Amino acid sequence: MHLPSPDRYETMQYRRCGRSGLMLPAVSLGLWHNFGGVDTLENSREMICGAFDLGITHFDLANNYGPPPGSAEETFGKVFADDLRAHRDELVISSKAGYLMWPGPYGEWGSRKNLVASLDQSLKRMGLGYVDIFYHHRPDPDTPLEETMGALDFIVRSGRALYVGISSYQPDDTRKAAAMLRDLGTPCLIHQPSYSMVNRWVEKGLLETLGDEGIGCIPFSILAQGLLTNKYLNGIPEDSRAAKPHGFLKRETITEQRVAMVGKLNAMAEARGQTLAQMAIAWVLRHPQSTSALMGASSLSQIQDAVGALANLEFDAEELARIDEVTA
Ligand SMILES: NC(=O)c1ccc[n+]([C@@H]2O[C@H](COP(=O)([O-])OP(=O)(O)OC[C@H]3O[C@@H](n4cnc5c(N)ncnc54)[C@H](OP(=O)(O)O)[C@@H]3O)[C@@H](O)[C@H]2O)c1
Repeated sequence: MHLPSPDRYETMQYRRCGRSGLMLPAVSLGLWHNFGGVDTLENSREMICGAFDLGITHFDLANNYGPPPGSAEETFGKVFADDLRAHRDELVISSKAGYLMWPGPYGEWGSRKNLVASLDQSLKRMGLGYVDIFYHHRPDPDTPLEETMGALDFIVRSGRALYVGISSYQPDDTRKAAAMLRDLGTPCLIHQPSYSMVNRWVEKGLLETLGDEGIGCIPFSILAQGLLTNKYLNGIPEDSRAAKPHGFLKRETITEQRVAMVGKLNAMAEARGQTLAQMAIAWVLRHPQSTSALMGASSLSQIQDAVGALANLEFDAEELARIDEVTA
């Protein structure tokens, strides 16, 4: 049983998620990589419990996180049972369905059949009675949006989730989904898009949509999977995501040109008295729509570093222009 730090709520900032009653920590921890069956349980435990000690109350999962798929939820379930069960009401735990999880026509996308069955499997793996947030993980071009949103509404009404969200939906579909969910009486709480200094798609209409609709935003891959840190400045470390066979970040994407760009950003971060990871986190949090920066980690020290970003969230116009220029 982990005894959490009594100071855990003193350093973290909590931000309101859209126009809802729910507050999220400015930094949240995602379990996509480094919490699977191929990873070390003790390191996963140290990161989850250590994050909670820092006031990180929000843990982001999905049915398919691992590898193997499902194993990150099993890892979280073990740590929850051993260490955090007494603190269930202090935690916001999310899961998702939409990517391939089991064979046959019901194992992915956005049918009611897939979403409800997948969440039941996730709850079992995590040993939970409900999740706080359940997401549709990716838009489904073939299932009527009414069916997918109806399934999310059912999931809340049946007690399997408290809130629902969507991930990677374009602005138009986000507006449609929000209107349907509002009509059903289960408002869309949150949108989870990819966003970083090197991936700007949300700036072309999505952030504006989320502001209008009162939906929170929790950007992911804010460090571009580790590229936007000092990690690759001198080559590809053996224990890095880019070096691992199951990592989603491919070795060949760490090009000389990108490393040169990262070097310039790193010098800017140093001038601000921050690490580059901290600057990248502060940069996504600068929008009023950004509820929380969703980070991944392979060690507790990376999570501690991320939380240090909150000491300096301000950018002047010159810095923002320079970041645009360097990353253009
Ligand atoms: N909705 C979706 O479709 C979707 C898709 C992807 C991710 N997500 C969510 O977003 C979360 C984060 O995604 P991500 O892992 O791609 O995010 P990320 O924060 O961009 O990258 C995380 C990686 O950056 C490196 N890192 C972190 N802090 C560092 C530091 N202070 N110094 C140096 N390196 C540092 C680590 O790499 P090493 O492992 O190499 O140490 C870590 O694994 C996921 O866990 C998941 O919950 C959602």
